[in-house]
Amino acid sequence: MHKNDNSNIFKFLKKNKTFIDKNIKIYLNKLNTPSEIKKIMFYAVLGGGKGIRPFLLTETAKIYGVKPALYIFPSMAVELAHCFSLIYDDLPCMDNDELRRGKPTVHMAFNEANALLGGASLLVYAFKLLTLKDFRIKNDNKLKILNDFSDVIGAEGVLAGQYLDLEAEKKDYLLTMKKYKNIQEKKTSLLLAFCTRTAGILGGANTKEQEDLYEIGLLIGRIFQTKDDILDLEGTEKEMGKRVNKDQAKNKATIIRLKDINYAKTQLKNLCFKTKERLKGINKNTTTLIELIDFLNYRKN
Ligand code: IPE
Ligand code: IPE
Ligand code: MG
Ligand code: MG
Ligand code: MG
Repeated sequence: MHKNDNSNIFKFLKKNKTFIDKNIKIYLNKLNTPSEIKKIMFYAVLGGGKGIRPFLLTETAKIYGVKPALYIFPSMAVELAHCFSLIYDDLPCMDNDELRRGKPTVHMAFNEANALLGGASLLVYAFKLLTLKDFRIKNDNKLKILNDFSDVIGAEGVLAGQYLDLEAEKKDYLLTMKKYKNIQEKKTSLLLAFCTRTAGILGGANTKEQEDLYEIGLLIGRIFQTKDDILDLEGTEKEMGKRVNKDQAKNKATIIRLKDINYAKTQLKNLCFKTKERLKGINKNTTTLIELIDFLNYRKN
């Protein structure tokens, strides 16, 4: 899918991003923090990025008839947590990147100490947004969402994934399919699965439906990261807004390292097919989610 396709997905993504960013701006402005910290938070979150996670949450929530006044809170939270993970991911002690979303990474633009502080501030504020009174859902659902959010971001989730991702860089590390899938799931897919499941919780989906949504989110995460790894090899710095051709040099735990680029592409195609099949089981209008899968498959950035 390219810009000249009939699909409206580019328009939808942009519209959703504008809506989420507008609200993030309002809530970040409420913070009583040194102006430099606020500046870093704005820099890291606003003005770039595709907004895939809030879009996935929003579109899944819409399927269940959830109103913006509710889905806006977890949508903002996932984007803040995602941006926290990017700030840390780019640090010299991690992936050591200087470019993100076409701009200097946060530690380059500010400095490492401020990157750590600004990043942690985003993560903590993400949790705070989910506790607010404005987020009007039943308290037990709120607790469930907060609990899930802690699991996917914390030491059992993204942070573990990032640890394992770095460990796998070591020359003597034997990467297996099982290890690769575990790293990919933790560092990337869990947060996307949080998006789909949370939408289900907001929409009153039953336990079985919530589980299905979670698994669909995990599959979308696999599609997303597999494509990210392919784009590291075949994408351009201009389109991606970040450096490319880095994963092989850093010995990253990708499917390309484990197999090869053709295997990665076949895998991506199969994952898209499988995810679309799973979506049929939802028994609702999933047109936009199917378009999102096509976008994630064909994207160039
Ligand atoms: C990049 O995520 C980090 C990965 C998990 C691969 P995105 O490609 O969603 O980054 P932005 O938010 O659009 O910049
Ligand atoms: C990032 O994966 C995953 C998280 C930020 C949790 P990558 O390291 O592949 O992301 P990019 O390629 O730097 O965006
Ligand atoms: Mg990384
Ligand atoms: Mg990286
Ligand atoms: Mg990458």
